[in-house]
Amino acid sequence: MTHDEILNWLRESNEARLADLWRTADQARQAHVGGEVHLRGLIEISNHCIRLCGYCGLRAPNRKVTRYRMTREEVAACVRQAVALGYGTVVLQSGEDPGLARDWVADLVRWIKSETPLAVTLSLGERDKAELAAWREAGADRYLLRFETSNQRLYARIHPARPGGPANRLELLEHLAVLGYEVGSGVMIGIPGQTYDDLARDIALFAELDLDMIGCGPYLVHPDTPLGSPDNWPVLPGDEQVPANERMAYKVIALARLVCPRANIPSTTALATLNRERGRELGLVRGANVVMPNLTPPAYRQLYEIYPGKACIHETAEACQDCLQGRIESLGRKIGSGRGDSPNYRPR
Ligand code: 5AD
Ligand code: FES
Repeated sequence: MTHDEILNWLRESNEARLADLWRTADQARQAHVGGEVHLRGLIEISNHCIRLCGYCGLRAPNRKVTRYRMTREEVAACVRQAVALGYGTVVLQSGEDPGLARDWVADLVRWIKSETPLAVTLSLGERDKAELAAWREAGADRYLLRFETSNQRLYARIHPARPGGPANRLELLEHLAVLGYEVGSGVMIGIPGQTYDDLARDIALFAELDLDMIGCGPYLVHPDTPLGSPDNWPVLPGDEQVPANERMAYKVIALARLVCPRANIPSTTALATLNRERGRELGLVRGANVVMPNLTPPAYRQLYEIYPGKACIHETAEACQDCLQGRIESLGRKIGSGRGDSPNYRPR
């Protein structure tokens, strides 16, 4: 797809033509990754964060957040639950937390890999190359790190650099692939200041990076962040600003499927937050093939407030499981068996 073709779809408002886009994306999903919906059990292991991302509720200066870091035993209990619920993957996610030491994470990964058949995905932010290498060595299979926007000026505005100097996320993504991780990335849709042109370039970049996993969701306002004050962060004038709405989220999922037909693409919680009734399902019939049920203990889950009003915040793992199973079966689809690796996966 050319830049202009992507751009035209992002600007399309004719419902009949959009129905074609949804259908084409759904057919590509069926042809390339099949009808199975893979479940990835999400464990939010720490909400500590040293970064200042302008949109995220977990940013270091937000004093309203009660911080937690799960113990190894607490994580292990969630991992066992993932096995019991029949999941093929656990995703260990956190803020950028140096308190999660290299060896602590490596030992945890080694334990999961030796005691369970699970694939392990890490989503722990921008970490040192030595740490990423050690975790891969310990058996981690996949790493998620969204590049958030390909517009470097916008990126710099919403991601103040770390004291150690500006990390280049694109370079880090390439390095993760060199280490042998399956690599996932993605963007937020409708960041204040994001143009249609920016978003079209983001989608082309998914293909250029040859991503194994692509996670995209609408930007949701968090009042206790700099971007949460509209006076500080005005949206663009006229029709330049990408809206952070549901339809735009489906367009990005569908276009991601068309440019990276074999990728694993989740129907995200941010999307389910915009439309609690049908958001998950509509993502799954417009290109997505993965969902990420939350396994974090409910007491911690409420403290992992990246944005407010997150779907499933009060649910137990079993409730999420039943809910998602019902939603998947209502579409005539099946829950995936096994790990649901990328077709490009290279075992260690
Ligand atoms: N709205 C939507 N998504 C957000 N994320 C962080 N803050 C927000 C927000 N306010 C997304 C980012 C990050 C992922 C873990 O959550 O894309 O990479
Ligand atoms: Fe958590 Fe539906 S997925 S309640």
